[in-house]
Amino acid sequence: MKVYNFSAGPSMLSEAVKLEVQRDFLNFSNSGMSIVEMSHRSKFFEDVHNQGITLLKEIMNINDDYEVLFLQGGASQQFDAVPLNLFAKGRADYIVTGSFAAKATTEAKKYGDVVIAASSKDKNYTYIPNVDSINFRENLDYVHITQNNTIFGTRYTSLPKTEAPLVSDVSSMILSEEIDISKYGLVYAGAQKNIGPAGLTVVIVKKELMRTPMPICPTMLRYSTHADANSLYNTPPCFCIYMAMLAFKEIKALGGVKEVYKTNLHKASLLYDYIDNSSFYSNKVFLKDRSLMNVPFITPSAELDSLFVSQATQNGLVSLKGHRSVGGMRASIYNAMPVEGVEKLILFMKKFEMQNKTALRS
Ligand SMILES: Cc1ncc(COP(=O)(O)O)c(C=O)c1O
Repeated sequence: MKVYNFSAGPSMLSEAVKLEVQRDFLNFSNSGMSIVEMSHRSKFFEDVHNQGITLLKEIMNINDDYEVLFLQGGASQQFDAVPLNLFAKGRADYIVTGSFAAKATTEAKKYGDVVIAASSKDKNYTYIPNVDSINFRENLDYVHITQNNTIFGTRYTSLPKTEAPLVSDVSSMILSEEIDISKYGLVYAGAQKNIGPAGLTVVIVKKELMRTPMPICPTMLRYSTHADANSLYNTPPCFCIYMAMLAFKEIKALGGVKEVYKTNLHKASLLYDYIDNSSFYSNKVFLKDRSLMNVPFITPSAELDSLFVSQATQNGLVSLKGHRSVGGMRASIYNAMPVEGVEKLILFMKKFEMQNKTALRS
């Protein structure tokens, strides 16, 4: 049975990329070696690495004012690395729109004067605060947002206007829609959703911002350490970088992020339209702030939610259980989820609704 994986991350990866990896796994580029056994200083790997950086710059339209870094430690490590590198004055404002945004804030508070400028905690993070009515403080090193909230299924559709550089956690939306990088001072993302396997963290940082780290910033967390070594200061996550490079190449071949976005919009509309037209399923997120990547939904009862998750699994629709802090279900429909996977999910939802609506009434 074909399985569709709706996990929030690590998540489904492109079939074409996986097949290419499988084909080349034992003998990469006629080297007689696997890519996972090669020195990161070898010409073979260096080519992969540089291609990865070049392709990402191309598909995200990143100019030379920015440095693209391939790091480790996950997006969570950036919760510390960002303040440690960017705190020249030691002041930042954070917008808290979910658990990861809250964690980022907690870490930053360890290093300086950090204020929560706005939060959507009052309604269990089901919306994004109106960015036009937020009064940010003056003299900030940066303003931090979490652009797509993986657990709660919200996304920013416009960015806060701030004089300070904007820093964004784009972990669960990178490459799903076009972003204008010139509007940001820094963006960071764990790879395990829209890029490749877990283990790689992408940081795109404006060069002028990364030269004044706090003195306590460890060498390994300094952006300048990695920028000066082309992200090869120490052994990088070679296999992840290789798979990321293939994912970037695929996006370019598909016509770029613009085309990927059209498909993502289509997939999300199919699912939200179905949920909105059903009296059985519901999604609690404010309409204007709905994520294109993570779609939480519930049935009329917690018992039915559990039944839904187990029956869906038996039907090849896996990892649909919602995050423990939200409950219900969550369908993560990242770039690699084909339209067919969303259609199969909707078909199953219809069947489940028919069977259990009757059960509810009788
Ligand atoms: C928006 C967001 N930020 C941060 C993280 C944490 O990422 P990592 O596990 O790579 O540290 C996640 C993980 O799901 C996430 O979705």
